[in-house]
Amino acid sequence: MWLQRLALGAPGPVGGLALIMRRSIIEGCAGYLPERIVTNEELAARVDTSDEWVRVRTGIQERRIAADDQQTSDLATQAAERALANAGMRAEEIDLILVATTTPDNTFPSTAVKVQAQLGATGGPAFDIQAVCAGFVYGLAAADGYLRTGGADSALVIGAEIFSRILDWEDRSTCVLFGDGAGAVVLRAANGDGSNADRGILSHHLHSDGTLYDLLYVDGGVSTTQKSGYLRMAGQEVFRHAVNKLSDVLLEGLAANDMTATDVDWLVPHQANKRIIDATARKLGLPTEKVILTVDKHANTSAASIPLALAEAEADGRLKAGDVVLIEAIGGGLAWGSSVIRW
Ligand code: COA
Repeated sequence: MWLQRLALGAPGPVGGLALIMRRSIIEGCAGYLPERIVTNEELAARVDTSDEWVRVRTGIQERRIAADDQQTSDLATQAAERALANAGMRAEEIDLILVATTTPDNTFPSTAVKVQAQLGATGGPAFDIQAVCAGFVYGLAAADGYLRTGGADSALVIGAEIFSRILDWEDRSTCVLFGDGAGAVVLRAANGDGSNADRGILSHHLHSDGTLYDLLYVDGGVSTTQKSGYLRMAGQEVFRHAVNKLSDVLLEGLAANDMTATDVDWLVPHQANKRIIDATARKLGLPTEKVILTVDKHANTSAASIPLALAEAEADGRLKAGDVVLIEAIGGGLAWGSSVIRW
């Protein structure tokens, strides 16, 4: 029990003394969406689909598509600048920059170093995380590890994607599902005392299963076709895995924190499909009023979807300091995970 509390960074007495653990607090968050809105109706004019089919099967009504001259690093930098402003911090104060993306500007170097240069925050480590739609959850866990162990005092974790560039616009079963965007959070290490004593990231649970590689992948790449390729997906199978694996990994997070669904203030899920989100919340016994939804307006923005949703819910006053917030995501790999955060 104490070992578990130690691992989770929960403060508690050891030998009569208060044990104080470093934790990562989310100091700020923000999103950036490209200007161009593409509605289902607009898509139906060029793809054999309909607004009704897309809305009923996915909950998506519209998505944003990046301008031709925008790269993933541009979206990421915009989101990062806004998150820094939201946190009241300057780029030079950031020790570590992680960009979760599946759609990097170039094969190398990382998109993170480009963002670092655009922000004017050079010198510290900056690298990309590749876990597709689970990328933000993986990135948050990696940055949290740096902060807890003293490797950094502050970090920017960004999810940024231009999925429109890896979609096969002839494949109606996938091209209607995705959108472009970026979201960012600023983390700061805190000592778990004073007014912030119980705030911060409490736990992460990450999983992957490479035997499910072929359910959701891109049919190209450097060592295969030397072209970036297009997204391919076995939609129904991904759907089934998503509901089961996401509800399991959320329960794993709650159990590790001695919590149940009644302790949860907000579920901020990866925004792939409203039916997946509804079914996952139902399995947990969470009412829909506690679920943050942006999939209707953003579609699936992969690694960007969670920070975009966090930013929206914080900006409109739903997320408040002290709230228990669950995040979860699953994507190609398959790779999935959840985090429990006290906002
Ligand atoms: N518009 C109209 N019809 C479409 C369509 C579209 N955009 N896409 C597929 N269809 C058709 C199919 O051709 C099929 O027609 P048929 O019955 O004549 O063969 C029919 O709709 C049903 O297709 P199916 O693939 O069985 O639909 P579905 O109910 O499984 O819904 C998804 C498809 C993709 C919406 C659903 O499987 C899904 O959401 N999966 C999870 C995907 C996801 O979120 N992945 C990302 C995880 S990070």
